[in-house]
Formats: sequence, structure tokens, C-alpha cells
Amino acid sequence: MAGISNFLNKTKWLNVTVLKYQHADLSRLSTMALSGYAEELWQISESADLPRVIPQLAGTDFSVLGGGSNSLFVGDYLGILLQLTDDRLEVIEQKVDHVLVKVAAGMNWHAFVCYCLQQGWFGVENLAAIPGTVGAAPIQNIGAYGVECAHALHSVDVIDLQTGNCAVWSTVYCQLSYRDSIFKRSEIKNRWLITAVTWRLSLHWEAQLHYPDLQVLREIASLTVQQVFAKVCEIRASKLPDPSMLPNVGSFFKNPIIPLAQWQTLQQRYTNMRGFVVNDQQMKVAAAWMIDHCGWKGRRCGAVGVHREQALVLINFGGGDARQLLKLAHEIQMSVWEIFQIWLLPEPVLIGDEKLWQHLLQPPS
Ligand code: EPU
Repeated sequence: MAGISNFLNKTKWLNVTVLKYQHADLSRLSTMALSGYAEELWQISESADLPRVIPQLAGTDFSVLGGGSNSLFVGDYLGILLQLTDDRLEVIEQKVDHVLVKVAAGMNWHAFVCYCLQQGWFGVENLAAIPGTVGAAPIQNIGAYGVECAHALHSVDVIDLQTGNCAVWSTVYCQLSYRDSIFKRSEIKNRWLITAVTWRLSLHWEAQLHYPDLQVLREIASLTVQQVFAKVCEIRASKLPDPSMLPNVGSFFKNPIIPLAQWQTLQQRYTNMRGFVVNDQQMKVAAAWMIDHCGWKGRRCGAVGVHREQALVLINFGGGDARQLLKLAHEIQMSVWEIFQIWLLPEPVLIGDEKLWQHLLQPPS
């Protein structure tokens, strides 16, 4: 972490290691790399000892940060950023057909997927190459190529940041749905911190190939999990920019879910519009297709712009700030709204002064 900011102190008592930094450079803490500072950053490498840290948070403003790949800082952050860096993994149950693996919140998600493959544990291979940490995965129920993490989630270890009480929440309790979970509710957010996630992984592989991009693999006679993993990594690399080269936070907008009747009306007009069936009442519309249709793909507005290969991804070409990015996002929302009467909602977690981004959360009245 050298160079992030002024190193404040390193406190180690018993097992606890807390690294505290002052005036932390936000451009290095979020993959969107927008300029700004956080008053303090605390990195905690021993989640088991969090109860000792929690009393120090009383009366302060704080936010929890994972790998920064789905968080967008709007201006400076006048509080404490908490980051868990614990990355241990433990097999807690081994049966004939599955394993239960408990993984500390700070482990890198892709490293976890790779480890599962090496061990012969299946269920998360379609989620390869998603940036971020294991602890952040359930929050927005990460999903790609026809699989959501809900599919392999067993339970989540949490700690109450007000009282220090620990609990284990089942998948059902976590209320996972498309890019959503209980962790996004205002009464849970910034109160319950995920310290570890337990996954139920199968020992028998079953390919999940229903997503259009993967269907070409059906032609391979003796397909292996490594081939699926490699294909997912290849598609992602071809469509999604590497944040270390072109800073971004992946999909900037969620794919909106609309009533079937509205979808049918739109499809009569826009016959090549893309969508996915959610259930017999609802369709999930490809936001990228609508943004593309409105002519935004590949457009650059100063230091920020829309990716050339994937219209759902906004890019910071270097030196971009939150004001420019929010202006671009809002212009995109307005043009999609004018044509389709659908309001695109931002996917990343917005952190900072809410007044600056509230207008992104609803269509104009
Ligand atoms: N499309 C366009 N223009 C584009 C890109 C896509 O018209 O520039 C159309 C294509 O017709 C395509 C359809 O949109 O068939 C859907 O595109 P894609 O398969 O790339 O998926 P997406 O809906 O844009 C979602 C996730 C991605 C995930 C991919 C693959 C959301 C918000 N995004 O994107 O997740 O990787 O599916 O499963 O659900 C992320 O969240 O950061 C992320 C990358």
C-alpha cells in the first residue's frame, strides 16, 4: 500500500493489525480512478478481531470498501474507509458431491475462482475474471454468462458495526436477486459488515452454457471446465477494458427489468432490441443495446467516455473527475429515457455527497 497516502500508524495488539492512513488517494482505491481524497483509510487484516476496532468507529462517518471495482467516489470522502484485507480460505465440510468453503472477505474474487478450479470445485467458473473481492460478491450478487453468485452461495458471516455482534446469514436471508441483496438496504448498509462468505461448490461439473456467447462451446465433444473458464476470460478481455489500462467500474448501469407488455410494445417498434426473459411477466432489457442505439458507443466527452466495445462501460481516459462522469451518465440516461421511456439506474455504489448524484436515481418528473 506504499504511496496511497500519508501512513498514519500501524497498531498491533494481540492478533489485531490495523493499518491507518490519512488523506488517502481515492484515485488508487477505486478502479474508476477519479480524483479525490478520503479523510482516513483503515485496512484490517484480522477480521476476527474487529470487535476491538468497532468502538473506535462510534460517532464517525465511515464506509466499507472492497476492491473498489464497483464503488464510485463522488468528490472527497470526509470519513473513514474500512477495508478488510483478510484473505484466508478454509474447507469446513467435504461430502461426496460437494464442499463447503469459507473464504475471508478480503480475498480477490478471481484468485478464488482459480483456486476452485485447481481443487476441482465447480460452480463459479462462469464468473471468472470479475474484478473485486469475495466479500463484495454477495452485495450486488455478481453475475455473468448466465450464472449469479447466488447459485453457489451457502451463507455469509457478518458483524454488526454498532454492537460488535456476529451472525451467520443464510442465502435466503440475504435476499439475492438481479444485482441486489439485503446488503443494499439502507438499514443494513454500513451497519452489517461481511467478514467471510461460505460457498457450496460441486465436485461434479455441469456446464452452464445457455448464455448466447457461450453456446459455441456446445460443439466441443469433450468440453472441460478449463475451456469454459478460458472462454469466459477471453470474452471478458475482448469486451471489457482492463481497469489498470483504462479505468472503469464494469457495467455502469443495470439492465432494467420492465413489464412484458412494455417490452412487447417496444419490440414492435425496435425489432432488433435485445432482452432476456426474467419470468412470464417481466423482461430484462440490454441497457448496452439501448445506449448503443442512442449513438453513445465510443463517444468521448473530455476525459471521460463510453467504451468502444461495450456501451455499458464508462471510461476515465485519465484525469477525469466525478463531475464530468456524472454529467455524461446523466446525458446517457436522458437520451435513453426520451427514446424508450426507460430510466437506467447506476450499478456502482455511489459514495460521497448524495446531493451530487441524487438526480441519477430517478427520471425527471
Ligand atoms: N450490446 C449492444 N451494444 C454493446 C454491447 C452489447 O448492443 O455495446 C447488446 C448485444 O446485443 C448483447 C446484449 O447487448 O447481446 C447484452 O450484452 P452483453 O452480453 O455484453 O451483456 P450486458 O447485459 O451488457 C451483463 C452484465 C455484465 C456481464 C455480461 C455477461 C449487467 C449490468 N452487466 O452485461 O456484467 O459481464 O452481462 O454476462 O448485468 C458488470 O456488472 O460489471 C459486468 C460486466
